[in-house]
Amino acid sequence: MGCIFHISKKELERAVIREGSILKGADGINSPSQDVAGCAAVGTPSQNFDKSESYHRAASEAIPGGVNSNVRLGNLPLCFASGSGSKLTDLDGNIYIDYALGMGPAILGHAPAPVTKAVEASLGLGQLFAGQHNSELRLARLLQTCVPSAELVRFGMTGSEMVQAALRVARAFTGKPGFIKFEGQYHGWFDNVLVNQSGPAGDVHKAFPLPIRLQTQGQSINATADTHVLPWNDEAAVARYLEENHGVIAAIITEPVMCNTGVIPPRPGYLEHLRAVCDKHNVVLIFDEVITGFRLGLGGAQARFGIRPDLSVFAKALGGGFPVAALAGRRDIMGLFGDGSVNQSGTYNANVVSLMAAVATVETLSEGNAAVYSRLEATGTKLIDGMREIAERRSIDMLVSGYGSVFHTAFTRDTEIYDYASHFRADAARQKAFIDALLKKCIRPTSRGTWFVSTAHSETDVDSTLSAVDEVLADPF
Ligand SMILES: Cc1ncc(COP(=O)(O)O)c(C=O)c1O
Repeated sequence: MGCIFHISKKELERAVIREGSILKGADGINSPSQDVAGCAAVGTPSQNFDKSESYHRAASEAIPGGVNSNVRLGNLPLCFASGSGSKLTDLDGNIYIDYALGMGPAILGHAPAPVTKAVEASLGLGQLFAGQHNSELRLARLLQTCVPSAELVRFGMTGSEMVQAALRVARAFTGKPGFIKFEGQYHGWFDNVLVNQSGPAGDVHKAFPLPIRLQTQGQSINATADTHVLPWNDEAAVARYLEENHGVIAAIITEPVMCNTGVIPPRPGYLEHLRAVCDKHNVVLIFDEVITGFRLGLGGAQARFGIRPDLSVFAKALGGGFPVAALAGRRDIMGLFGDGSVNQSGTYNANVVSLMAAVATVETLSEGNAAVYSRLEATGTKLIDGMREIAERRSIDMLVSGYGSVFHTAFTRDTEIYDYASHFRADAARQKAFIDALLKKCIRPTSRGTWFVSTAHSETDVDSTLSAVDEVLADPF
């Protein structure tokens, strides 16, 4: 059976128009609108991936691996023609219910009208001034309003670079060199933080802190000299380590909910504990809210859990699909950028189009007292509850953990995944088979089993998704 959901006539027309205009004349790889119309009109896809595969072969001649982010290596090499709302259309005319959402940013769905309208309006204004424009202050004020700890805000383009800005300013503020990061957490692809994110779990009983595990060839071990790795969700580990090493630790950086290794909530009291030990030892607490920001609520995880970090990094959902990132935090720390003591710079920082997209995104999410979040949460919760019910009915050890707007499926007998080591025990091969089977039914979670939900996902999407999950888990799971 092919795709099992229905697409509205309006959505179909938009997809066809976009596909036609994007691909006209592109390498003869596709003859677009005919395929899309032929497939989508009946809601049954061509169920082959020939055009994606031939695109991938051609792209591999020009682009290493045929992809522009290593995260995209190793998946079924899909090439997309367009996205609209909760759906993506690939070159073969398959239409997916998308839960990857660009790895999180598309919180309002693909091509959301308020954002595309703002971007259209921005285009005639010019893009970069090497000077200021009004949207910077508008967005900064929005962040100050939405995010409890955002006394001052600086903008950049990516989460990776703003993480570096956070670590740099924390070092300057405390006069100390080191930082603690946690096993399994991802804070971007730069050498000093890309450690112990994947691979076998460390054994704290053998070595404490955990030995640094580089994640790519070419990575500088010297760049990790100030990086200290501990297990997450372990209060005793961090307390003990800081007691002995606080003299060299400037910062603790953590995702408040671990979202790059499953979706692992903090254990009750854990974030409070981090806050307390940071206060005790003059350590800057940095929340990496690149995923949780504007996703777990308008004020991110920090508002949801009621913890005030010293600094926080935002990206992804902040821009509704456009590239923008922010570092926000305490006036006394952030002020070091303002008096020129600490450098944070970038040609494209606060460019007009990204900032106007972000303003439109945050304003849309803020409407009606941010009422959209209860709908978002309800949609995701229905998916989570539905998947749990299916797994139970079919006696399958599938654990679904997380929150309505971002959750994770794992095949494990454990009743809780609480850190990297427990995540690592889950059956990765079964997870891959599950995701691949869903993809063939045009349901697209991320390849690592994380599901992002947008405000564009509908009840019908949820029902179609649960039917597909039920079919996939029927056999051979
Ligand atoms: C928690 C977290 N921090 C930082 C980053 C890096 O952000 P970017 O990809 O925008 O550089 C990511 C990206 O996935 C992330 O999930």
